[in-house]
Amino acid sequence: MDDIRYGLKDKVVVVTGGSRGIGLEIARSLLGEGAKVVICGRKSEGLDAAAGILGGGGNLMTFQAHIAKESDVNSLFDAVLDRFSRLDVLINNVGMNIMTLSVADTEPALWQKIMDTNLNGTFFCSRKAAAVMKEQGDGGRIVNISSIAGRRASPGMGVYGIAKAAVEMFTRVLASELAPFNIRVNAVAPAMVRTAFSEPFWSNEDLLREIVKTIPLGRIAEPMDVVHPTLFLASEASGYITGQTLMVDGGASVI
Ligand SMILES: NC(=O)c1ccc[n+]([C@@H]2O[C@H](COP(=O)([O-])OP(=O)(O)OC[C@H]3O[C@@H](n4cnc5c(N)ncnc54)[C@H](OP(=O)(O)O)[C@@H]3O)[C@@H](O)[C@H]2O)c1
Repeated sequence: MDDIRYGLKDKVVVVTGGSRGIGLEIARSLLGEGAKVVICGRKSEGLDAAAGILGGGGNLMTFQAHIAKESDVNSLFDAVLDRFSRLDVLINNVGMNIMTLSVADTEPALWQKIMDTNLNGTFFCSRKAAAVMKEQGDGGRIVNISSIAGRRASPGMGVYGIAKAAVEMFTRVLASELAPFNIRVNAVAPAMVRTAFSEPFWSNEDLLREIVKTIPLGRIAEPMDVVHPTLFLASEASGYITGQTLMVDGGASVI
């Protein structure tokens, strides 16, 4: 699949949370396309390590930002414009989960933390990106990384799932509002992907066997399984698609 191309050469793309996992692989593929790529994360060590892995020369920029902090997000987008003078695509990839016993027993501070990163961060980044894209006047694309947890009530992942469900509605609302500007907004919703995020599940062989039983394609996803749908939605190949959430779940949501 390495030779699939999405026509993103010279496009300026911000990938939030691109220092590892799915975001890192999205950034790697974008650089392979010849795009100008900006990744962000909270920790400078993670960003430095990612820069070492990705290379990318002048086409890669790293920026330390906590996307749940509006001032960090504003600084991120200012830096993108300083460096590349425009923005074509935003990929809202950052997400985090802290297991909760039940939503009803969740402390408000924990609820807030999960909402801040998964939902508010997506909002902060999207509003900045939309303002830039509107001003440019030649369209744009936003792709949100949601989760199957936004569709299914998953034990222990309730607050995260509620935040991701909100990301899906955010995607639809923003798509309808930004369509007149030819800014398309879509989401992908993976089931389990082999990254550090979900390692406690897939690294346990017994648990992994049980999880795989619920996936018609008979395996969990690798990051590249999410990269291709994301780049498709970021490209002109999806030019007549907006407001959609594409399930990237090996068929888990159809059974
Ligand atoms: N892996 C799965 O099984 C799975 C399944 C469905 C959906 N997803 C979704 O896919 C997306 C990517 O997940 P992943 O598995 O690649 O996660 P991951 O391996 O944990 O990577 C998360 C990335 O986001 C950054 N990050 C986390 N919080 C941040 C914040 N507040 N501000 C800025 N950067 C932040 C991390 O860097 P720092 O730590 O340095 O900040 C890192 O680069 C998430 O939206 C997740 O919800 C994942």
